[in-house]
Amino acid sequence: MELNGKRIVLGVTGGIAAYKSAELVRLLVRQGASVQVAMTEGAAHFITATTFQALSGQPVYKDAWDERMPNAMAHIDLSRQADLILVAPASADFMARIAQGMADDLLATMVLARDCPLLLAPAMNRQMWESPATQRNVARLQADGVGLLGPASGAQACGEVGPGRMLEPAEILEEVLAFFTPKRLAGRRVLLTAGPTFEAIDPVRGITNLSSGRMGYALARAARHAGAEVVLVSGPVALSTPAGVDRVNVRSALDMHAAVMARVAAADIFIAVAAVADYRVAQAAEHKLKKDDGGIASIKLLENPDILAEVAALADGPFCVGFAAESQNLAEYAQNKRRKKKIPLIAGNLIQEGFGGDDNRLVLFDEAGAHPLPPGPKAVLARQLIDHIAQLTGSR
Ligand code: C5P
Repeated sequence: MELNGKRIVLGVTGGIAAYKSAELVRLLVRQGASVQVAMTEGAAHFITATTFQALSGQPVYKDAWDERMPNAMAHIDLSRQADLILVAPASADFMARIAQGMADDLLATMVLARDCPLLLAPAMNRQMWESPATQRNVARLQADGVGLLGPASGAQACGEVGPGRMLEPAEILEEVLAFFTPKRLAGRRVLLTAGPTFEAIDPVRGITNLSSGRMGYALARAARHAGAEVVLVSGPVALSTPAGVDRVNVRSALDMHAAVMARVAAADIFIAVAAVADYRVAQAAEHKLKKDDGGIASIKLLENPDILAEVAALADGPFCVGFAAESQNLAEYAQNKRRKKKIPLIAGNLIQEGFGGDDNRLVLFDEAGAHPLPPGPKAVLARQLIDHIAQLTGSR
């Protein structure tokens, strides 16, 4: 529930992408937002008010002269209470009208009368988007401080391919979450590792650790939402890359080590979340080993570099954060690990409690002691950990 208590006016204008706005309402409401839908007459040709009313649980407004408003000032009342006006889809015509400051329907009037930020998710045919008139309106709206989400490029409902597609509802939700996150890491460069590593034995076998990568990915996303530039060095996982995050795929611990070392000079903060294999196979076989040859029964192992300890030992290195997944004695093991690796902050979790799922329980350990976080979804814990990092690095 990352949008608890937020009041969002969702404006829907006339375009085929309006059918996706129904899903967007669901996603916003599921995150705890209160969503008030206001639609233009054009939008009503593509989707009905009933759909939005059912999904938002609130009456939908279409008409500037709506009699449900006690003082006949729907535009003022609705936008006065909002934390954000989001218009998705924003048609070329609607953008043209608000760029001119027109107030010729309820939604345009609300936009003009607002004292909260405005985000637009444009959706239109590629030629309409690329036309000089639309581009002029876009530039004017941006100069007025309006935020633009997208558009994306791709296949369009009209059969053409190009820029003008509305972002997907999940992508718009991400942008809204980012919009509401205080920019505590603005201008900072964050480097993370996440996921397991895979140490090949032969072309089909290997040694790995159980790690879904979810905590690391949640942290990359939270750091991005907090305004950081984020590079995520990831072992093999089945997760999609958080929006705006630069992802580098690696497989083995040595690959991960090389990828981190090549980028660490450009990082202010390093967060090592990866479950790196402690050992690798001395010599991976080129061809599949056969049981009969006894080749698998004994494998010579070499110790992998400790990426976090090595980064922590760099002169002038980044602020380092580690993870300690333990099955018992969490506080003792985590604090010892923190001191041994000479890092200012370590996040400990008991592995019975968070493995692979969406929820987790974390205790942060730093010089000042232990800071248990309330158990919750990884996305929420990630934000709290990022806040703690921002607090500790505030004066750097
Ligand atoms: O030493 P241990 O594996 O228990 O420490 C865990 C922490 O160290 C995690 O932050 C992990 O990402 C990091 N680590 C590392 N390189 C290794 C082993 C662990 O960066 N080879």
